[in-house]
Amino acid sequence: MSYDSQIFKLTENKEIAKGIFDWTVKNDELPARAKCGQFVNIKVPGRVLRRPISICDATDTTLRLVFQVKGEGTKVMSQMKPGEDVEILAPLGTGFDIKPGKRYCFVGGGIGVPPLLFSAKQTDNPMVIMGFRNKDLVILKDDFKAAGAELYTATDDGSFGIHGFVTDVLSEHMGEFDEVCACGPVPMLKAVAEVCRGKVRCQVSLEERMGCGIGACLVCSCKTKIDGEEHMTQVCRRGPVYDAGEVFYDA
Ligand SMILES: Cc1cc2nc3c(=O)[nH]c(=O)nc-3n(C[C@H](O)[C@H](O)[C@H](O)COP(=O)(O)OP(=O)(O)OC[C@H]3O[C@@H](n4cnc5c(N)ncnc54)[C@H](O)[C@@H]3O)c2cc1C
Ligand code: FES
Repeated sequence: MSYDSQIFKLTENKEIAKGIFDWTVKNDELPARAKCGQFVNIKVPGRVLRRPISICDATDTTLRLVFQVKGEGTKVMSQMKPGEDVEILAPLGTGFDIKPGKRYCFVGGGIGVPPLLFSAKQTDNPMVIMGFRNKDLVILKDDFKAAGAELYTATDDGSFGIHGFVTDVLSEHMGEFDEVCACGPVPMLKAVAEVCRGKVRCQVSLEERMGCGIGACLVCSCKTKIDGEEHMTQVCRRGPVYDAGEVFYDA
């Protein structure tokens, strides 16, 4: 793992949906090391523990980070202004395993959608299925279209796009892609894994409470089954991406 903690310049901070903020941060060295599905750990002014946020997109000198305000840390982040410095540990974790020549379907739920943008951009002709509770929470639609994705958007209440769940859309299109990569709430990941089981390889990105982000504190340990054997693994280092069959969804 080639991570480091460096100062980034916040160059953009805009609210793209209610309570959801879109940061661009600039640094001359670390963004070029980012791989899709990895995350960063952000030092929030006045807080000891850093906040883990997925890499939504990257260029050689910028990272795009999209986050929802949940508690104190993300609230402070939402109020930061372009021009401010922010200390970021990056890039962290093991991202999606993307193989050339395969067609991928990326399935995202809610604030699990952002890391799929950088991932979809690494592949040819991606299919993207994203689900939200309602129309007010729909994000990154134009970004996925600009990336050339065959895009399906579902909402739980039918207020935008398809009325239903991402798994309905996934089942309908089974056979049109070789592998699935998913990120979102655990019940969604469990349902996606179930639809894919025995048909296509599925990788899932997990979210766990984290401390250090680099395998030192064990806060993020969770039970997994790797090569047929049960192990406690650290989501920040062995994950956040796992093969769907390695995860205990009800643990
Ligand atoms: C690998 C990974 C990637 C993530 N990517 C994103 C993303 O792209 N966009 C986004 O909006 N959110 C993402 N999250 C969730 C995000 O980290 C939490 O919402 C955020 O840390 C909450 O911080 P807070 O101070 O606002 O909340 P508080 O509840 O006040 O946080 C208190 C402490 O708990 C930790 N914590 C709370 N909730 C979580 C959580 N769900 N996961 C990990 N630590 C948590 C905080 O880091 C902090 O140390 C990700 C989490 C992980 C583990
Ligand atoms: S967050 Fe410290 S070991 Fe994973």
